[in-house]
Amino acid sequence: MIAPALDSEFARDVWAGLGRDGQKTLPCRYLYDSVGSALFEAITNLPEYGLTRADARILHKHAGTLLDRLPGPLLVAELGSGTGAKTSAILQRLRLRQAVTYYPIDVSGAALASCAQCLGPLAEVVPVESSYLEGLRVVAARRAPGETLLVLFLGSTIGNFEPAAALDFLGSVRLCLMNGDAVLLGTDLVKPVEQLLAAYDDPAGVTAAFNLNLLGRVNRELGGDFNLRRFTHLARYRQHEQRIEMYLRSRVPQCVRIPAAGLTLGFAAGETIWTESSYKFRPDQISGKAAAAGFRLVDQWIDAEWPFAENLLVAI
Ligand SMILES: C[S@@+](CC[C@H](N)C(=O)[O-])C[C@H]1O[C@@H](n2cnc3c(N)ncnc32)[C@H](O)[C@@H]1O
Repeated sequence: MIAPALDSEFARDVWAGLGRDGQKTLPCRYLYDSVGSALFEAITNLPEYGLTRADARILHKHAGTLLDRLPGPLLVAELGSGTGAKTSAILQRLRLRQAVTYYPIDVSGAALASCAQCLGPLAEVVPVESSYLEGLRVVAARRAPGETLLVLFLGSTIGNFEPAAALDFLGSVRLCLMNGDAVLLGTDLVKPVEQLLAAYDDPAGVTAAFNLNLLGRVNRELGGDFNLRRFTHLARYRQHEQRIEMYLRSRVPQCVRIPAAGLTLGFAAGETIWTESSYKFRPDQISGKAAAAGFRLVDQWIDAEWPFAENLLVAI
């Protein structure tokens, strides 16, 4: 099919993902409009979703050691910061040693606004509303001579990349950095299937709402006529691939129009749209990936309650 001329990147991505033959897909970055970011915040508070609390516990416990590994003036950037709530542990420690400038980078303007409000008392917060690498290039260009860049990539967002793309991505991050700069990489670890499925398909239906909102966003921004009640949320775990997959499944045969993406689509009953993958890791898988991207793994902290690792990588 020849791509029509479309107005926005969102429209082009929707056309490419839904207009293709075979498995329909939508990129997970579009889950985070203002409604999606608010729903994600709610997810992080769910009893079944232990990931964020584990990440926060590690940061709280080890921020001092982490900063001791990186002496000298630091500039802090965060990829996909969201509201940046967990990052306060690091900024609080760092401000005991220096005035802190913090660059949260995110595609969600709503999340950045909460972030600036929440972390403003701890640092000069300079929000960068853009995609990860574009934002990181902006930050890297602003660093003063002698400053070390600490890049936070928390919450296991790296798990949303396919493995080869994750390596490419880390390699591209490395190209923005200088020797001695650091990346703090959060990675959710493999754990029992029931625990994972509950985390991505909670009984209160918050994750379902987060996923379904993607269709709502297509309706709001591209004039689509998805009836959200005719789709259900589906999460499954692929043991061999070590990944959670999230889908939206059509309950009935139906036709959907998305004028601004130039699409009229047929869905069979049971047909799915793949909206997100979330890879899980084993602790021993990190150092090889780090090395392949030009980093050395210098520290790894694992939470005692919920298998999750924070990994400190230094650019070599
Ligand atoms: C899984 S959430 C994690 C939020 C936060 N870091 C945490 O640990 O709770 C992913 C965040 O990355 C942002 N995001 C997703 N894709 C992005 C992209 N391509 N570029 C920049 N930010 C992105 C989302 O808006 C969201 O705030």
